[in-house]
Amino acid sequence: MNTGDFEFIAFDSRIVDRAVFDCGVPVLDDYFKTKLNQDIKNGATRCFVAVEKQKKSNPRRPFGFATLTAGSISKAEIPDETKIKVRNYSQIGVILLGRLAVDRSVHGIGLGQGLLMEAIYRVYLATSQLGIGCRALVVDAKDASAEAFYKKYGFLDLQTKAFPKKLLLPIESIVELFRAK
Ligand SMILES: CC(C)(COP(=O)(O)OP(=O)(O)OC[C@H]1O[C@@H](n2cnc3c(N)ncnc32)[C@H](O)[C@@H]1OP(=O)(O)O)[C@@H](O)C(=O)NCCC(=O)NCCS
Repeated sequence: MNTGDFEFIAFDSRIVDRAVFDCGVPVLDDYFKTKLNQDIKNGATRCFVAVEKQKKSNPRRPFGFATLTAGSISKAEIPDETKIKVRNYSQIGVILLGRLAVDRSVHGIGLGQGLLMEAIYRVYLATSQLGIGCRALVVDAKDASAEAFYKKYGFLDLQTKAFPKKLLLPIESIVELFRAK
């Protein structure tokens, strides 16, 4: 399989077979199987899943998922090395990439990168096409391995000692990424 075999669809519990998902991190699998649907129903988050393009019949097997939620971080958390300037506010608006995971059966083929790029593109669309102000994409890296994955793509450490570790990709980097295409 390669990344071209997948498409992204909005998570819908009537279509997506949650039971078969296994990313290797029980807390993420458990969230996907038992808590995500409630979070979507009450509007707390939105989720897109990677499914096979060729297999349109239901139920569809999820090979990866990512969640996006509106949020904010405090001015004090902004990494020094960003160009984010904040004058009159104590908080800045961000989009949170709450969770991202890939099924173990397809680790290493580029789907994690594909999900991350889709999430980044959605933030780009929000600011450039939908008129929604947002200064960065923020992720909660669950462990050192996840942190290393995100840092490959330019995410920076927030100035916070919080666990899980928060990382940030400034909107300037996101715009630059898609403007070049
Ligand atoms: C982390 C995870 C999403 C990566 O997904 P994946 O589909 O296997 O990764 P990809 O094949 O897209 O890899 C893309 C690049 O990231 C690198 N990479 C993958 N996992 C990495 C890790 N844990 N640390 C550092 N780099 C990593 C790959 O080597 C690849 O680099 P390359 O293009 O230079 O070869 C996946 O391993 C996973 O779901 N892990 C469990 C859940 C998790 O940790 N989620 C993230 C925190 S919420």
